[in-house]
Amino acid sequence: MDSVTIAHVSDLHVESEYYSSDLAYNVQERLSELEPDVLVITGDLTDDGYPHEYTSAKDLTDRFKAKRKLVVPGNHDARNMGYVIFEDVFGTRFPSVDVGWLKIQGIDSSEPDIDDGHIGRLAYTLVERSLGGREIKVVALHHHLIPVPGTGRERNIPVDAGDFLELIAKLGVNAVLSGHKHVPWMWSLNDMLLLNAGTATTLRVKAYIPPSFNILSIFRDGETSIETVESRTLRSRIVYKGNMLEGGKLYWSHEPR
Ligand SMILES: [Fe+2]
Ligand SMILES: [Fe+2]
Repeated sequence: MDSVTIAHVSDLHVESEYYSSDLAYNVQERLSELEPDVLVITGDLTDDGYPHEYTSAKDLTDRFKAKRKLVVPGNHDARNMGYVIFEDVFGTRFPSVDVGWLKIQGIDSSEPDIDDGHIGRLAYTLVERSLGGREIKVVALHHHLIPVPGTGRERNIPVDAGDFLELIAKLGVNAVLSGHKHVPWMWSLNDMLLLNAGTATTLRVKAYIPPSFNILSIFRDGETSIETVESRTLRSRIVYKGNMLEGGKLYWSHEPR
């Protein structure tokens, strides 16, 4: 396989008052047509982590067609001990997908009953071991690592975001997939792509920024294109074209030289 198509979907919030089954149906249709190699869901599948919400979330994600799926929990999924149910329904909170030259490592950045993110040093070791030596390295987690414009007062960035960013830059991670803010955006930081997906299936949006999801096409030589798809109209627009292998540089180090 010399190219990988990744559908990046986030913040489903099934059973919430803002959830829209029409939007969910549209996402389902687009994924059926595309049948991506990997579907990455970056958290907040439920609204409060309750068992019946997990049942609905599982039903919905089962309808999303993809060859492989990687699901990480969000802060909403960790409420009310939902993190226990998450593992029963979706398996590990630290899943990975490995296609040989490309590997995606998922991380649970949630903490029970608080909205702030936290990665934690145990996960640093996991990421280091998991992604070391891969040609293209991707990390997926719910919380955004740097601010996203159009989201008001900044909050909930993982409390250890700085140390984690240093680690992944040092590892040469090429892309980070996140959600949480319900606003799609992309930054390139030290040539590492930090890609945020909007909410795919809810009306919990900011102003006129529509519900959406992202599709990434990555070739083994690093050539990458990213499009964002509006869930309501399924209109899509290319937001990035470039080479991912030019990414992931550490320019500064606190270590003595
Ligand atoms: Fe959310
Ligand atoms: Fe969230």
